[in-house]
Amino acid sequence: MSRKPIIAGNWKMNLLQSEAKELFEGIKSFVKDYTAPQLPTVVIAPTYTSLCAVESVKCDCGCGKNKIYVAAQNCHWEKSGAYTGEISVEMAKDAGCDYIIIGHSERRQYFSETDEMINKKAKAILAGGLIPIICCGETLEQREAGITDEHIATQIRAALSGISSEDVAKSVIAYEPIWAIGTGKTCDSTEANRVIKMIRNVVKEVAGVQAADSIRILYGGSVKPSTIEEQMSQSDIDGALVGGASLKADSFNEIIANTMKVSV
Ligand code: PGA
Repeated sequence: MSRKPIIAGNWKMNLLQSEAKELFEGIKSFVKDYTAPQLPTVVIAPTYTSLCAVESVKCDCGCGKNKIYVAAQNCHWEKSGAYTGEISVEMAKDAGCDYIIIGHSERRQYFSETDEMINKKAKAILAGGLIPIICCGETLEQREAGITDEHIATQIRAALSGISSEDVAKSVIAYEPIWAIGTGKTCDSTEANRVIKMIRNVVKEVAGVQAADSIRILYGGSVKPSTIEEQMSQSDIDGALVGGASLKADSFNEIIANTMKVSV
């Protein structure tokens, strides 16, 4: 089954509104030469304060898709209330988001997010009609201890617990080995593909074969224009969640262009 690739840029806590706007314009001017069916699904995830400085870009070929989608980097699972500093799914949607990244290792590590919280967020996002990009990944210690697969399977089972197969099928997972994030060390493509296949098997176990075939599973961790072609030529890698290289229009656009060389 062919799955549409996704190239998602996670801007993390970077860029003022004017800078976000400039980066957005740089990506927009690249995608204008293509239709959405030619492009991978392009997603950008600015900070909350820059969500309104960017916008999704509709395709005009009649396909009904966007050339650029907007994502929030996090959300709360409750609809509203006394949760200082948080935003709801509806607020993200109201600010133009179609996707929300959840469970990024930086949130797990620095803000003590648990698998249970990530599961609640995934459910709230899907109930609100948006798509979760659920991150998972192992630390270097876990990899060296030989418990990578076990750890990731636990994260995925917990994140998808109680979600219907239909909703799992439209979700996105990002496999991001923590030791590869922001370090310049990418995970070997065949190894990333092996772990992603293992994740797909876990999805099959919990949500059935159709969901496993449809769900898009990305690789993240020091993705660059020079690494994406090899990553995209693997059987099970459906795209990339890009941090550092998404902060410059040139490198992000080159990642999109190189993705189109291999698949779409
Ligand atoms: P990186 O970040 O591309 O800078 O390694 C990836 C991520 O954290 O999503």
